[in-house]
Amino acid sequence: MDAIHIRGGNALFGETRIQGSKNAVLPLMAAALLIKDICIIENCPCISDVHHMQQLLRGIGCKVKCSGHTLTIDARNIEEDIMAGENVTGMRSSIMLLGAMLGRVGEVTMDYPGGCVIGERPIDLHLNALRRMGVSVYEKEGYFTARVKTLEGTVIRLPISSVGATENIILAAVMAKGVTVLQNAAKEPEIITLCEFLREAGAVIEGIGGAVLIIQGGHSLHGIRFRVPPDRIVAGTYLMSVMGAGGHIFLEDAPVAQMRSMLKVAEDMGAEIDVSREGLSIIADENRRAIPYLKTEVYPGFPTDMQSLLMAALTTAAGVSVIEETIFENRFRIVDQLKKMGACIELQGNRQAVIVGVDGLLGCEVDAEELRGGAALVIAGCMALGETVVNNRHFIERGYEDICRDYQNLGANVYIG
Ligand code: UD1
Repeated sequence: MDAIHIRGGNALFGETRIQGSKNAVLPLMAAALLIKDICIIENCPCISDVHHMQQLLRGIGCKVKCSGHTLTIDARNIEEDIMAGENVTGMRSSIMLLGAMLGRVGEVTMDYPGGCVIGERPIDLHLNALRRMGVSVYEKEGYFTARVKTLEGTVIRLPISSVGATENIILAAVMAKGVTVLQNAAKEPEIITLCEFLREAGAVIEGIGGAVLIIQGGHSLHGIRFRVPPDRIVAGTYLMSVMGAGGHIFLEDAPVAQMRSMLKVAEDMGAEIDVSREGLSIIADENRRAIPYLKTEVYPGFPTDMQSLLMAALTTAAGVSVIEETIFENRFRIVDQLKKMGACIELQGNRQAVIVGVDGLLGCEVDAEELRGGAALVIAGCMALGETVVNNRHFIERGYEDICRDYQNLGANVYIG
């Protein structure tokens, strides 16, 4: 069965280790395509998005081997420039291969990428930026071809600091002739990881971590060994679990420096947080407070990927919380499911949710519709009395290596049914 069962209602006690980051490793796998050599990526999470990306790389001729959490990518030979099918349409990150393929072979034909149903997810910013670098794009029903003779470095200003567009431009720019100056670049930690990976492989990138990136293209790249940093959203998931269910947990390897906005919210809710070199300790007692107003923002603000996870935790916090979603317009899809469990949430348009804390949730059967919303329902299941069944666990498996194992480590009764 494609479901996760939770017998909830108990506080969480225990410790678990945080897996490697999904949003970091996917662009690294695309970057490996630029390198006519062998790259070894360590601490790679075993999640379905990574499996799809492996299939895509194999489909164009790369040799990819996965042994435990170590991924070896040999991109010395590229034989294909067409990418189609479910591995593309089922995963938004397949778009990363656009910049990488243009950088490596100058042409790609691909289906339009898919991903979570969290709102319109166009690729106009990606295509417009690449056009400025000399790329011609021929759009057809359902797919497109992009082609370039020589990628040219140029000045690009993103109208929205899109994470994916920033990554795609970086991938193309390291192979371009001349210098690319990217203004209003996204500053998410995963962009820094991509730049560090490319820099170690021989690329020249300045301004890493800032809003202006200066990339000198054309340097030859060599194979490297690189370790994927831990996943801040997975760590945030367990943080919000203990904020919802109460208890005392320890998250080994949690990337605390990238989690400041989440930790601030947890403290405002009443958490006692202790940060050490080894990870993050969180104590949450019975009296959790509401968050009067919070909006999702680009990094270092509160991440949109954490929004539904926080919402689940707030359903039983004392008082009224308001969350405004500013990044994606369709990211309140779990509201109806949480209401089925007894939550009191009112939507004001598709951008604002008002959550009135209730005494408790009750377990029932709910449907996951996307990755983080699905994980949020597991949080609600841990908080609820009785049994909760979260259907469609395949959405959750896109980003969580073994969510049942992690929750069992934290003392929760969560298992595959
Ligand atoms: C990435 C993350 C995702 C996260 C999001 C925002 C990965 C694999 N995914 O997604 O988990 O929720 O950043 O932090 O890293 N936009 C356009 N046109 C475009 C591209 C984007 O209008 O061509 C809009 C989007 O609709 C959205 C906003 O820009 O409203 C931000 O999206 P973007 O930062 O691009 O998100 P992704 O890279 O898709």
